[in-house]
Amino acid sequence: MILVRTVAAVRDVVRSARAEGRRVGLVPTMGAFHRGHVSLMSRAREECGFVVVSLFVNPAQFNEAADLARYPRDEGGDAALAGNAGVDVLFAPDASEVYPAGFATTVEVTGITEPLEGAVRGTAHFRGVATVVAKLFNMVQPDAAYFGQKDAQQALMIRRMAKDLDFPIEVVVCPTVREDDGLAMSSRNALLDADSRRRATALSRALRAVERTVAAGEREAASALASGRAELAAEGIEAEYFAAVSVDTLQPVDRIESETLIALAARLGAARLIDNVIVRPPGATR
Ligand code: PAF
Repeated sequence: MILVRTVAAVRDVVRSARAEGRRVGLVPTMGAFHRGHVSLMSRAREECGFVVVSLFVNPAQFNEAADLARYPRDEGGDAALAGNAGVDVLFAPDASEVYPAGFATTVEVTGITEPLEGAVRGTAHFRGVATVVAKLFNMVQPDAAYFGQKDAQQALMIRRMAKDLDFPIEVVVCPTVREDDGLAMSSRNALLDADSRRRATALSRALRAVERTVAAGEREAASALASGRAELAAEGIEAEYFAAVSVDTLQPVDRIESETLIALAARLGAARLIDNVIVRPPGATR
């Protein structure tokens, strides 16, 4: 695996790979790799002849300076993990390479970025993500790009952006990877102290409770969510949001009659965690 830091260098290696007829896969990341990232790299490895992982902690998407400051960073460890996962190139640009002096352009996807994370973190968060992902798409020019379902709203937004801006890139969304006790893998889990780490398992239990309730025939979103809320309350967790929303528009639904996203965010100690699950009532085709 090679490490490159400039747009010119990454374009150079991608150009050579493409000249050899290789399909190029990009896994955009902010580092602090865990098994969730490795699963994206493995999927890219399976589907592409040349895999680029970008590592850039994007200041533009952090709504709190303290969150940016404490975001876990370990470039050496990340490089070792990416190398073991069979990645060809680790692209780790400096901030000045991504946002050179005079940078003045942003990309904004409207509508689906406004509820859930947009409502809590502010729409600047998704503007920051959309802008950096659009830049990474242009810098690397991959055939496919890999994202995790854990960031469901982000994945939906990136699909929308790729379609709207005619990026000739397949956006692949991969399943959430979980610890044995159900906690969704996240770089932010590293910020949990022992007590918060134990309590954090209530998030996936809450989502599973909703799944079970819907599977048992409940269609009222409020009643289904109440079963999950009980799991959170048992650990003294108050969700920032815990919502049943359309998988396409992210607007709240009153009844769960088709595939529905159950999305959850909560703060535990120093960490803010998000998780989600898609529920489909028995008999629903979609
Ligand atoms: O999901 C992330 O790690 C980031 O939001 C992304 C897509 C790499 C953009 O900075």
